[in-house]
Amino acid sequence: ETVDVDPAAYEAGEHESFMHKEMLEQPAAAARVLSGRLDERFGTAHLGGLNMDARETRAIRRVKILGCGSAYYVGQMGAALVEELARIPADAEAASEFRYRDPVIEPDTLYVAVSQSGETIDTLLAVQEIRRKGGRVIGLVNVVGSAIARECEGGIYLHAGPEVAVASTKALTNMFLGFSLLALQLGRVRDLSIADGRRLINGLSRVPEQIQEILDREAEIAEVASQLAAAESLFFVGRVRGFPVAREGAQKFKEISYRHAEAYQTSELKHGPLALVSEQVPTVAIVPDDELTDRNVGALHEIAARRGPLVVITHEGVDLGEVEASPNFLARIDVPRNERELDPVLLVVPLQLLAFHAAMQLGHDIDKPRNLAKSVTVE
Ligand code: AGP
Repeated sequence: ETVDVDPAAYEAGEHESFMHKEMLEQPAAAARVLSGRLDERFGTAHLGGLNMDARETRAIRRVKILGCGSAYYVGQMGAALVEELARIPADAEAASEFRYRDPVIEPDTLYVAVSQSGETIDTLLAVQEIRRKGGRVIGLVNVVGSAIARECEGGIYLHAGPEVAVASTKALTNMFLGFSLLALQLGRVRDLSIADGRRLINGLSRVPEQIQEILDREAEIAEVASQLAAAESLFFVGRVRGFPVAREGAQKFKEISYRHAEAYQTSELKHGPLALVSEQVPTVAIVPDDELTDRNVGALHEIAARRGPLVVITHEGVDLGEVEASPNFLARIDVPRNERELDPVLLVVPLQLLAFHAAMQLGHDIDKPRNLAKSVTVE
């Protein structure tokens, strides 16, 4: 499998930064990771590189995902997809911690290493530890032939093309889509119906154009970012599927804007962090139209009552009630609707744009944020 972008010829061109170019490349990158992998007839995914037959796939009793930083947060989104679609218990863990707690390696667990560069030392060492103990590891990796790709027994290449900016964008979108394909295939050898498989395939094939719809609203989102850039400290909140989205949003914001941005489960606000909500501390809330919308809106009332400025990432038609009329309500950003399971990949795009434009307004070096390297290859 090859990537149809020549790394040597890859330049920022007319874009002010690689991050900007890479955000705008997401629709094309998303189309590449899906290309040739959606099987409409059987409502499943074709992932030839997994190197597992149906019987081996059925024997998996647990899925453990390992990655660092944003790759870890997307791993949390991936774990939710695997549990929802395949009903296999799944979780994600920071690869940087995994090896240090002398982990129990189980023979019927599928370990998944996720990495853009394929060179992150903590993720690589985790893979080696699992293999030393006889575990099965597959990779979700962008760079073909990288160290992690070589160590894994199989995997899914992400085909995002070269990614230069330290703040990862298109690789993360493709990680999410890679997990969607994996969860679909795991689900379809188990109890996920062909109708549900087709429903998800249909949803997946709409993702590239829906990302484009969000990117087309960049100017509007840049306006919202200008209202956040001045804050010294921000909260990003979400629940269940929305929580790793909030973590990723906070991560992007701190990496390039150098503001203190902290993610919480919305449900945890009243157990402590609400004490910090004030006119000076804005909250970016992830409120998709799902099973938890009413509860999420309830939490927004709590924030609004404390005069906390609010930006809400949501869907068209979601009724935010009086919150929208509260004095410090900054904006709502509606993302296109898709299948609920796939919501995170669309909810995360406005958060990239918010972080990017806040950092631009603060005059920061977008592609080379202070203290950070693109890939962390030493312990
Ligand atoms: C993402 O914006 C970060 N720069 C960082 O957290 C990154 O995702 C992490 O270091 C993992 O890198 P990898 O995907 O190359 O393994």
